[in-house]
Amino acid sequence: MTPRLCVIEGDGIGHEVVPVAVRLLTSLLPALEVVPADGGWDCFRRRGEAIPAETLEKARHCRALLFGAVASPAHKVPGYRSAIVTLRRELDTYANLRPVRSLPLPGSRSGVDLLIVRENTEGLYVGEEQGDGERATATRVITRAASQRIALCAYRLADEQSRRRVTIAHKANILPLTCGLFRDTVRGVAAGYPEIETDEMLVDALAFRLANDPESFDVVLTTNLFGDILSDLAAVWCGGMGMAPSINLGDRFVLAEPVHGAAPDIAGRGIANPLATILSAALLLRYAWDEPALAQTLEQAVDQVLRDGARTPDLAGAGAESISTMEMERLVSSALD
Ligand code: NAI
Ligand code: MG
Repeated sequence: MTPRLCVIEGDGIGHEVVPVAVRLLTSLLPALEVVPADGGWDCFRRRGEAIPAETLEKARHCRALLFGAVASPAHKVPGYRSAIVTLRRELDTYANLRPVRSLPLPGSRSGVDLLIVRENTEGLYVGEEQGDGERATATRVITRAASQRIALCAYRLADEQSRRRVTIAHKANILPLTCGLFRDTVRGVAAGYPEIETDEMLVDALAFRLANDPESFDVVLTTNLFGDILSDLAAVWCGGMGMAPSINLGDRFVLAEPVHGAAPDIAGRGIANPLATILSAALLLRYAWDEPALAQTLEQAVDQVLRDGARTPDLAGAGAESISTMEMERLVSSALD
């Protein structure tokens, strides 16, 4: 079957980093059919929808999607719903995987190889907020069904990847009904995997340990908002926001995206780091098209250029010599040859 990829560049640096990843993917998988689609804040301003129906149709047709990044307003805009949250929900990609591993970079720590598995469809991200200007509330939805399927996904992956421990991150001391339901449901699934150790931590204590002792984690399994925050923190260990990949898995669709956003501070300057998106493309090879060898080839090419000292400005640090997005692409591309 022809592999198909729906591509949404989005906003800001999405336009710079996504085409790079698509070109590299096509060089590894020449049969790949690429289907561009519209989405994001700019799309909302032009068309009144952040994810038009036509985009969803293309995504459903392709089954695999590469999403760059979108800008989002930090205030309420009537009719606007976040493009990425909409896509994750509409395609029911309920598991957000954020692998963090040590890379040959000065800031990166050796020995880190952890996987954050984040529930993607509920929690506080259901977006049910109410407020009258004096008091505001947000609804946090946790269901047994969603907790169960994310737990099954985490334990299946841990098993497949020979990972030994799953740590449940929660705050059940303060939120015993919601976090308690999540934790207890995961514990139920864990009982079916006696060879994988299961432990749990309160999310604040876990954040401290993630910042001090990241090597001690293997799989971290958590709810939507906690996973969002913890994965940005963990990204420090693989070189920062320009390096962190992610993939959203569902039973029928796969959606890869860098963890970072539209980066308006550097957009349009040709200096965005494309490696997070390239590594997200490697996750597509592994999880969407079952091409683990090609995924590894691409990841090793990234390691190679980093070992050789290639640095976009975010990696180089202030005042140090750095290269452009295009130059990084050229180097990764020649490391693949
Ligand atoms: P951001 O991730 O866009 O930027 C944070 C910092 O990291 C900035 O200094 C930026 O220059 C840097 N950075 C991010 N990616 C980089 C890359 N590939 N290469 C080099 N430097 C990089 O997060 P921020 O500033 O909080 O949000 C900016 C906009 O992006 C907002 O509108 C926000 O809503 C949106 N956003 C979208 C996300 C998505 O589409 N999944 C995720 C996070 C934020
Ligand atoms: Mg985030």
